[in-house]
Amino acid sequence: MSLLRGDDPASVQAAAGRLAEGGLVAFATETVYGLGARADADEAVAAIFSAKGRPVDHPLIVHVAGLAQAAVFAASLAGPAQRLIDALWPGPVTVIVPRRAGLAAAAAAGQASVGLRCPAHPVAQALLRQAAALGVAGVAAPSANRFGRISPTRAAHVQAEFGPDLWVLDGGDCALGIESAIVDCSSGAPVLLRPGTLTRGALEAALGERLRPPDAQSPRAPGTLEAHYAPRAALRLVAPADLGPRLAAALGRDPKLRNTLAVYSRQPIGGLAGAVEPVFWQAMPADPLAVAHELFAVLRGLDARGVQQIWVEQPPSEAAWDGVLDRLRRAASS
Ligand code: TXA
Ligand code: MG
Repeated sequence: MSLLRGDDPASVQAAAGRLAEGGLVAFATETVYGLGARADADEAVAAIFSAKGRPVDHPLIVHVAGLAQAAVFAASLAGPAQRLIDALWPGPVTVIVPRRAGLAAAAAAGQASVGLRCPAHPVAQALLRQAAALGVAGVAAPSANRFGRISPTRAAHVQAEFGPDLWVLDGGDCALGIESAIVDCSSGAPVLLRPGTLTRGALEAALGERLRPPDAQSPRAPGTLEAHYAPRAALRLVAPADLGPRLAAALGRDPKLRNTLAVYSRQPIGGLAGAVEPVFWQAMPADPLAVAHELFAVLRGLDARGVQQIWVEQPPSEAAWDGVLDRLRRAASS
């Protein structure tokens, strides 16, 4: 039995034991499920890279139970990193800080820095605390999906990616649904490498300073690869005003398209001018947090229906939508 209940202390203990032995365990966090291995064992971490098919130069986030464990991996936790940690941990923000030499080299993909995150989900917390008690200070864990594919927000998604043999610590449906915000605090002014559900404003309030956008000097964050989070279907972002006319034009050219096309939009397509042919419509909530929560499950669901094209109504250009928009853009560019 490889699906373990995260609210069962004996299962958490067994999962922590497996990590301590150098095994892989997938586990729930409040963002997405992670595929974990002890961060201080390079062979254990190598198994993550091979299971995911992830290039070994793409660093992993090290998950910790709290500040004491973070201090094991960080060469320093001063300034902006400390402020983010004080204000927002446990929670969906990852800080990139200078790495203590000789520790978690494989997890950090050889970079001089390390990404640290303290998840708030009770199952992740319980696992990390239990692992720490067994001498595992940190658990390296990328999202528990094959490289480039959609991140998992349910235990069943993880099993669909890796099969039934992988141990999965089930914590239900992930509340947030998209990955943590990543802030590089390893050199000078903090840089937002990946937006999450915490808004830029919330991060800047915690920091007490403005975030810089990434530039050519910023570290590469491969979650930020152009093509990522991709469903099998081709995903296209369409401006709200263009949705009706473009749908009508495309269906006019090829009426059979309606059998293989899905629309995920806030406006009901029944009301779109000229969109006479019904296509499969998935209603997009008005609240960006609700969209983040369901986004990856919706994309997986549409793939499962055998849809060939997904047209997504472009969300508003407002800070609260940054995380969702970032994932949609990457999904669209694959
Ligand atoms: O919410 C999350 O962050 C989830 C859950 C499981 O915690 N994890 C996650 O991991 O999204 P992953 O591997 O899919 O994305 C990690 C991102 C990558 O884009 C990676 O490049 C970046 O973090 N990263 C990690 N360490 C880094 C470092 N030292 N420098 C720059 N980027 C780093
Ligand atoms: Mg990922």
